[in-house]
Order: sequence, then C-alpha cells, then structure tokens
Amino acid sequence: MQRVDFDGTFAGWRKEARRLLQAGIAPAQVSWQESRGLGDLFDEPAEATAPPPSGAIRIPPQLAEALTYAACFRSDDRWALLYQVLWRVARGERAAMLAGDEDGSELQRRVKAIRREIHHVHAFLRFRPRAESAGPPAWVAWHQPAHDVLALAAPHFCDRMGNSSWLIATPEAAALWDGQALQLVEPCPAELQQLARQTPEDDDRNAGDELWRAYYRSTFNPARANPRTLRGNMPARFWKDLPEGPLIPALLSEARAGAQRLAQAEAVGRQGGREVLIAAERAQPERPLPTTLDECRRCELWEKATQPVAGEGPRTARILLLGEQPGDQEDLAGRPFVGPAGQVLMAALAEAGLARSEVFLTNAVKHFKWIPQGRRRKHVTPGPEIAPCRYWLEQELRDIQPTVVVALGSTALEALLKRKPRGLAQFMGRPLRLDERWIIATYHPSYILRTPDAEQQEQARQALVAALREARTLAAENEDEG
Ligand code: URA
Repeated sequence: MQRVDFDGTFAGWRKEARRLLQAGIAPAQVSWQESRGLGDLFDEPAEATAPPPSGAIRIPPQLAEALTYAACFRSDDRWALLYQVLWRVARGERAAMLAGDEDGSELQRRVKAIRREIHHVHAFLRFRPRAESAGPPAWVAWHQPAHDVLALAAPHFCDRMGNSSWLIATPEAAALWDGQALQLVEPCPAELQQLARQTPEDDDRNAGDELWRAYYRSTFNPARANPRTLRGNMPARFWKDLPEGPLIPALLSEARAGAQRLAQAEAVGRQGGREVLIAAERAQPERPLPTTLDECRRCELWEKATQPVAGEGPRTARILLLGEQPGDQEDLAGRPFVGPAGQVLMAALAEAGLARSEVFLTNAVKHFKWIPQGRRRKHVTPGPEIAPCRYWLEQELRDIQPTVVVALGSTALEALLKRKPRGLAQFMGRPLRLDERWIIATYHPSYILRTPDAEQQEQARQALVAALREARTLAAENEDEG
C-alpha cells in the first residue's frame, strides 16, 4: 500500500494521480492523505500492478468536469473514488464514469450534490454592507456549505457585484474579491470568519438587513409555505445565517393562521416612513409587477387557488371568448373551460360553426374564487378581483389582437368596459365597438346550466349560439376588409 500525501486540493490530487497512473499503480494500492507532512516511514512504496497506459493519458472532457465537481464532495473516500474512476477510464473502461456503473453512479451522485450545493450558495448567501468608514471589503457574507464548493461558487458573485469588494467566509475557506481579482484562502483565518459573522447589531449593516427583511416579509409566499417544501428548497441549516432566517418559522405559522394579508400590508405600508395599515390590494402599486401569472399577487385569490389559469388558444385567433373565472375543474387542470360550463360552450361553438382550436379562451379573473361547502368548493362570483386582474387580460388582448371579443356574462363585460354594466340585456344582440374591436355580450354557459326552466334554458342557449355566430361573421367581415 502506498500512502500519497498531498495538499488536499484538486490540483494536488491531479498531479499525484497522473504520476500514479503513469507508474501503473492500481487504486487498491493507494491510500490518499490530505496533509503536507511526510509519508509514514513504514509505508511501503507500492509496486506497479499493471503496465502503465500506453501513450499520453487522455480523458474525456466530461470526465474532467465530473472529477472537478466530485472533488468538492466531502467524504472520506473522495480522492480514492476519483482515482478509481480515472484509472478505469484511462484503461478504456468509459462506463466507469457513467451512471450505469457502480463507481460511475456514485461519481454522478456526487456531481449532482455539488451542483445543488453551488445553487444553494448562489440562492441563499446574503451579503451585508459594512460601514463605509470600515474600509474594504464593502460587503461580507457568512455561509456554511455542506461541501467544499466555495471555489466553484464564488466567481458568480464577481459578475454580480461588479467593482464592489466583498468577502465570503465559510468555516473552511474564504473568497475575497477586491473588484478585480478573486482570491481563495484556505483554511479560513479566524479574523475573516469573525468579520463575516458579525451580527447585524454590530454596526450599521443593520439597516441593510432590515430592508431585506421587509422585502422578504412582503414577498413571502405561503402557497410555498409547506414546511417540507420550504426546507427542500432552502435547507434549514441556512436559515440561521440569513437575515430573513429568523422570520421564517413565524411566517410559516402566520401563513397557517391566514395572517399573510396583514403581514404583507404591514410591510408595504411601513415603507413611506409612516406606519399605516393598508389592504394588500391598495398597496399593490408599491409592489413590483409580476412577470408571470404564477407570481401574481395582485389580489388574494392565489392563496386558495391551486394555480392560475391562463388563456389558451392560437395567437392568431380572431375571436377571443372571455369567461368569468376558472371553475373547480379548471383550477385543478390549469386550463380554461374544461368543466361542465366548458362542455356547454363547446357544443354552442360547434353549432355556430366554430372549433375550440380556432378561438382564444380566457377569463376575466385568472384564479378560482371559492368557499368551502361541505366537501365541495363552492364558486363565488368575483368582484374586487376584476380590476387588478385586468392587467393580465390586457396583456392577452395585446398579444392576440382579436377582432371580436365575446363577453360571456356580466363579469367579463365589466372587465372590458371597466365599469359594472347595468344588466346584460341592454348589450345583448348589439355588438359594441370598443378600442378598435367588437365586443359581443351574451350569457355565460353556466347560466344556461343553472336555469331550471327548460324553455328559458333553451332561449339562453340559442342566444349564446347566436352571439358566437355573430362573432364569426364579424371576424370574417373584418378579415375581408383588412
Ligand atoms: N367558467 C368560466 O367562466 N371560465 C372557465 O374557464 C370555466 C367556467
């Protein structure tokens, strides 16, 4: 058995591994020791057990990358596994680096763990500003990764922080950026650890943390406040080092108790320097605009809905059908008009000579509004949610540029008119020109479903079909004119 002392770095291991490989020393003959000391006097120099590989040692680039990552994985056999895989691949056994192989699968598992840990550093590391008078570094961060990923994770922050100097300290190593060059220090000197770990009370870094906490509180999403999911995304070991960490347990229980609304209103309301309690909806203009419907917090329906339901259909559609809001089945499926009302609508479309695939289907409100009724979720007509949700409808109208919009029911009509219509009746059968498009108002298909009187039901159904026919005619006429 040959003991190989090296400096514990990947570069040090690589140098030794190359030497051993060229000397034909098999993995079973090698014991890797991370130290700078001399080998034990009683160690026997190992004898070559196999002829050295012929010619220069070449390894595939994917293996080089996998070895670099797996070298960060903390484990007693980290260097032994790397050498085992390298030895086998250098001898033509490429399978040794692949997931189907015992060594390869362990290697790949470690690579994956390291990628995830790097992601954790990028996502959960928090810089705190230091007082200007304290001199560089301007920003400090303390982080405790589960593996030795600092060298791989730190370059990301050079781009992000530009010329500002920073220090990231971990119990094992430190990364220092002076605005131009990145330096890795290993092991991490006690003073650097101390600098990075100072508590927020220590100096006026406090202000930065407070700002971050206010932001975190106001954007905290209780839909993701399943503690297991939260821990999966942000392992609890990081909580204690984050400025917002102490907030998380309380926010989780607040979320459970339904106090999210208050927490948001409070945090947003505090921003102007004065403490005023305001409803989440009124605080809306203060919030950043969501970039996707999934992020929408413009009203509170998202809290109880399974998911938002976006519009669906070809971008080239000339006709846009606007419903009220997703129902129970749409909420679960994430698609508009797939439940009972959808079936009535599809039948009416067919009767009017239109196919689902040629119209754009959407709703005035994108989340399901409901209250529990026994084991069922009972639909509740939306009201205050219509105005904030118009943001999404306007995006859809801009994208699709329909010639005709069919408003199915009065919620849809209200969303288009930007005011509450006094009954549908006065708009029915009279297409309206608004913002360079036609608006046709008609019954909502679920009104047809709910109407108990058969004759009335049939009349409403015929009115719906007639409106869809009208839409088809207007779309065709305008197409010809265009
Ligand atoms: N009712 C609507 O208004 N829209 C749907 O998507 C389903 C039912």
